Amino acid sequence: MHPTRRDFIALAGGLAGAQAVPGLAWADAPGHVLRAGPAEVQLAPEDFPETRVWAYDGHVPGPTLRRRQGDMFEARLVNGLEQATTIHWHGLRLPNAMDGVPGMTQAAVRPGESFDYRFALRDAGTFWYHPHANSLEQISRGLAGVLVVDEAESPDLDGDEVLVLDDWRLTEDAQVHPEFGNRHDMSHAGRLGNYITVNGEGELRRRYARGTRLRLRLVNAATARVFRLVFQGMTAWVVALDAMPLEAPERVDEVEIGPAQRVDLIVDVTAASGEEAIIGSVERDGTYATVSVSVEGPEQALRTTPRALPPNDLPVLEPSGARRVPLVLEGGAMRGLPDQVRWQGRKTEARALYEAGQFWAFNGQAGMDAEPLVEAALGETVRVPMENRTAFPHSMHLHGQHFREVFTDWKLGPWRDTLVIHPDETREIAFVAENPGDWMFHCHMAAHQMSGMMNWIRIA
Ligand code: C2O
Ligand code: CU
Repeated sequence: MHPTRRDFIALAGGLAGAQAVPGLAWADAPGHVLRAGPAEVQLAPEDFPETRVWAYDGHVPGPTLRRRQGDMFEARLVNGLEQATTIHWHGLRLPNAMDGVPGMTQAAVRPGESFDYRFALRDAGTFWYHPHANSLEQISRGLAGVLVVDEAESPDLDGDEVLVLDDWRLTEDAQVHPEFGNRHDMSHAGRLGNYITVNGEGELRRRYARGTRLRLRLVNAATARVFRLVFQGMTAWVVALDAMPLEAPERVDEVEIGPAQRVDLIVDVTAASGEEAIIGSVERDGTYATVSVSVEGPEQALRTTPRALPPNDLPVLEPSGARRVPLVLEGGAMRGLPDQVRWQGRKTEARALYEAGQFWAFNGQAGMDAEPLVEAALGETVRVPMENRTAFPHSMHLHGQHFREVFTDWKLGPWRDTLVIHPDETREIAFVAENPGDWMFHCHMAAHQMSGMMNWIRIA
């Protein structure tokens, strides 16, 4: 099955201010109960059967939780699955005990049990939530949702939409392919799918007038696909990455968004009335419309460059003189692991690791060990040059604090929590170890995460 254009579905146009997105469930109760469990949703076009998924509150993606910066966030996870789960609140600077990593920050939540998450929302921006247990299967089956934290003062916009990109591997009868973590996926580019969705639909349809200014919150919930998006009939500025506002909006023609990353855009619809504006996903065999907007209704005058969003309160990062902890990413198909790799506390032959389904290593070690990759003092600044010696891109994610990329002359990139590193690239990041605890540091391509690319740091 290939990505298919959905039949035209007339949606009530959304022109008024920030509002619920059709087809997305919004949950505004302060203490939300999120139930993870099986559900059936119409994922593929209507001539296909419904897809049996695992979902939060029966929705794919899960309900968008919307809160205000400074609020106390409360949610109860109820596990209606037949296996243990947790929720990781991706990109939030929260207390370690709320981070949702089973066996590290909490016990796994067993079937029928629940767990209460409660933490202050320090930062405004676009975040998402997903399980951190059996991640490849649980996320691939549909467990993912978005947490929007609004700025104290909302920017001047005509609309605010969450766009969750996902990539499904579906069988001929539109069911989630039941094999997770086969050797090929693990050792290559991960579990790439054959059906791309936005908010659980093959193609999202909208109607907006020319001149409409929207905030689009892109979230990549896929476990492997790096999306490249292009715009037609609209002008786009990046205003935030991984929740953190840029100092100045950046005009873009194209956006790359790797697994787990978020890109907040401000977009002006510039196509003439009667035409279409499109956000396309560039794939190997062509460009697919993921969102199409029929441009109609009373035009508005086009506006000038948008203003920056108000910044979050991030630490001062001064990487010169900071300790440097290099990280080498190795393994995978084509290049392979070095002959000997540490695994579960001992030196192991690469061949034995492949047998055991371990294909990747960070600094000569596959998976986690009793010792952290980095031990940092609270308040210390750490630089981590990451060298990708593999033949595949990796979406590297640090829990609990954001980092900035370090360029030559100590120029610093935007704050992020996830960075895509392409083959043969070395990208240096630096962070202030501002949040005490044990934090995961891993590749967010879940098939890689489970086959070696998972480690942790300690801040004490
Ligand atoms: Cu969203 Cu450990 O990840
Ligand atoms: Cu990876």
